[in-house]
Amino acid sequence: MNPNHVSGAAAIPSRCYSLEQSPSLETFTKLCSQKASSEDYPLSSSIQSNIPIYNLADFSHPNPSTIFSLQDEWHHIILSGPGVFVVKGLFRDQELIEKVNSVYRSIITSEKSSAKGDHFAGSGKNDRIWNSFSKHGMLDPSSFLQYYSNPWIARICDAWLGPAYRVTAQVNAVKPGGAAQVSHRDYHLGFQTADATARFPKAMQVASQLLTLQGAVAHTDMPLDSGPTRFLPFSQLFAEGFMAYRLPQFNEYFLYHYVSLPLEKGDGVFFNPALFHAAGENRTETFERSANLLQISSAFGKPMETVDSLPLVKKCWMGLVQMYKEQGMSAEVEAFIAAVAEGYPFPTNLDRRPPAPGGMAPESEQDVLRRALIDGLGEDEVLKELTEISDGSKP
Ligand SMILES: [Fe+2]
Repeated sequence: MNPNHVSGAAAIPSRCYSLEQSPSLETFTKLCSQKASSEDYPLSSSIQSNIPIYNLADFSHPNPSTIFSLQDEWHHIILSGPGVFVVKGLFRDQELIEKVNSVYRSIITSEKSSAKGDHFAGSGKNDRIWNSFSKHGMLDPSSFLQYYSNPWIARICDAWLGPAYRVTAQVNAVKPGGAAQVSHRDYHLGFQTADATARFPKAMQVASQLLTLQGAVAHTDMPLDSGPTRFLPFSQLFAEGFMAYRLPQFNEYFLYHYVSLPLEKGDGVFFNPALFHAAGENRTETFERSANLLQISSAFGKPMETVDSLPLVKKCWMGLVQMYKEQGMSAEVEAFIAAVAEGYPFPTNLDRRPPAPGGMAPESEQDVLRRALIDGLGEDEVLKELTEISDGSKP
């Protein structure tokens, strides 16, 4: 019996989506057929392909009330509008971008020897820098200071997340011939399997988009044939989208209806992580397109106190093994694992713990404990594996 559909709960809907019931393509189509209007976004310079464009040169010396109004428009776009906007001239200092590109190149060169996972690209067709934020800051603090003191980035983050957030960044440089990504949604649930996603309540699936802002800064020009990101405006509004994006009919709809805009070096694009999107195909012969992908996280996913699972597992391991011997993987054993260990493998260091193919998210502490009990690992072995997770997650 599906525990989500027991009788007695008939008067209220299930809190979870069912894997057996396909999301409605008709509802999705209706949502994605909306049109963004420049009347809704009067500070935008234009709307192209349903995406509002903001020319930041128009706001060289903005007063606080203009900034507040811009932030209102950006928030509206991401929450209930098309879900994506472009900021032209986010970085107007081309020398700074070139300087940062040279820092990125030296990072890529120094990492070339080590093989890394990349959850989308076929090997050899792109260069990826995980955690370009920290690596950039450690290697060249002066350009890092200049780059991340851009007040427009802070205003855009603030518009979606409020004043408390953590910026992270990854560089993706896509070479000629680099394939298009399959359409998807992003972090958090976009890194989970369909089965894992279905276990998160509907309300949490919708809420998760409020905790992250996705962005990209163009570090080269991005003409259309170089494959700038494809977007499906308004698709973030589809509540079941994290259940839907892997299904062929939704992918097909995306391929018929996506839009993409050329960008110039220094432009930025920001979008709701629940928006259906995909990097495009680089159809050029010689042109490498490069972006610094920004992922900004709300402060509100964090607990109030710091808990280190390791010493607690160490103290309790023998007792837990005993409980498992007597009860098997009982509700009690599961409950203790859920309480003592992290069920979620992020934040991590994606160089040391690359995303696994398919499942994408690396193994969590809870996964390790379950496997350790089933395989009969000793205390030393389980602690060693947990230490590898915590050490491997450090920057
Ligand atoms: Fe993505």
